[in-house]
Amino acid sequence: MKNIPLSIPNVCGNEVKYVSETLADGWISAVGPYVSKFENAMKEYIGSNGAVAVASGSAALHLAYLEAGVGLGDVVLVPALTFIASVNPVAYLKAEPYFIDVDDTLCMDPVKLEAFLTNKCLFENGIVKIKENNKRVKAICVVDIFGNLADYERINEIASKYNLVVIEDAAEAVGSYQIKSDGTKQYAGTFTDYGCFSFNGNKIMSTGGGGMVFAKDTEHLEHIRFLSTQAKSNAWYFYHDEVGFNYRLSNTAAAIGVAQLENLENFVKQKHILYDTYKAIFEKNGIEMLSFRDNIRANKWFFSILWNEDNKLSRDELMAKLKERGIETRPVWGLINEQKPYQNCGHDDLERTYYYKNKIVNIPCSTNLTVEDAEYVANEIIKLKNGE
Ligand SMILES: Cc1ncc(COP(=O)(O)O)c(C=O)c1O
Repeated sequence: MKNIPLSIPNVCGNEVKYVSETLADGWISAVGPYVSKFENAMKEYIGSNGAVAVASGSAALHLAYLEAGVGLGDVVLVPALTFIASVNPVAYLKAEPYFIDVDDTLCMDPVKLEAFLTNKCLFENGIVKIKENNKRVKAICVVDIFGNLADYERINEIASKYNLVVIEDAAEAVGSYQIKSDGTKQYAGTFTDYGCFSFNGNKIMSTGGGGMVFAKDTEHLEHIRFLSTQAKSNAWYFYHDEVGFNYRLSNTAAAIGVAQLENLENFVKQKHILYDTYKAIFEKNGIEMLSFRDNIRANKWFFSILWNEDNKLSRDELMAKLKERGIETRPVWGLINEQKPYQNCGHDDLERTYYYKNKIVNIPCSTNLTVEDAEYVANEIIKLKNGE
């Protein structure tokens, strides 16, 4: 029987060579040349002013929220349709999320964001407060779901009108970019005040576990670097004037990152080939695939079909039957506003969020998946749709 996983790492380049170097010379901790090699290579690739490699995407987000000034009692506007790691750092900082709907890109809807700020908040002396409970809104977190990009132009305009900091959770969008009107590219991670990547095992490029933070303001970025290594005010005598974290990426993981980045463009190409393969088959058979925004080069990290409730099989039955045929799929995440730690937090109208939550099935999309296997997956889905 086939065994087709949903999304696994593709270790096909210089990973073994670079990792062997770190093992041979003993530099396996965060001290070692590959950490800055990885940061510099990524900085060049996305065209940022710098980069801080950290132990996970969650750590990246924690540091970004902290540096953005999110703290006790603040509110952060976030989507409910995301992985919980987008939101957990808000709770680490004793702030709370407020959930805003997504649009058909699955990213935050700027129209609903603006309507919320205009109609349900008061804006006085540069401070936004929710009318209902007088809580202060400090920041917005926008998530590049499945490698898609939000309408950042609009979101940044709204944020600047309301004096809010924006964090881009670009964990899933490494390699996505927007083509600007002058033809230049702007990469995921650079759209807002802070950008965060994840190199977790299921991401388009992986370091096993790892992440990276970017910040528009270089001083903020350097402060994040400082906080990520235990905030050593004096590294010789071990003096610490602030509470820091042990969040640095190891040299060995960074070595994997350098090798993965060398192949990132090939990975994106393969994602596009696989996506097009699925799309061509599904289109002929009345199955809708989630598309990506126009005028961007999405990395197409995850592929989603929208399962119609009128189909003979329910979505859960479809996924169970695919499993029997050796195909791993998954539904989209449980909504964050329904998770126990966040059930009592406020939310706006989440109509699109619920619409997509009930329909999405993610299908195999690893960059080492062959076109033949993608065709097999698509055809099995069609057979099941037709009751075979
Ligand atoms: C949208 C999103 N945010 C944050 C994260 C957290 O990243 P990590 O698993 O590296 O902590 C992930 C991935 O796991 C993610 O998909």
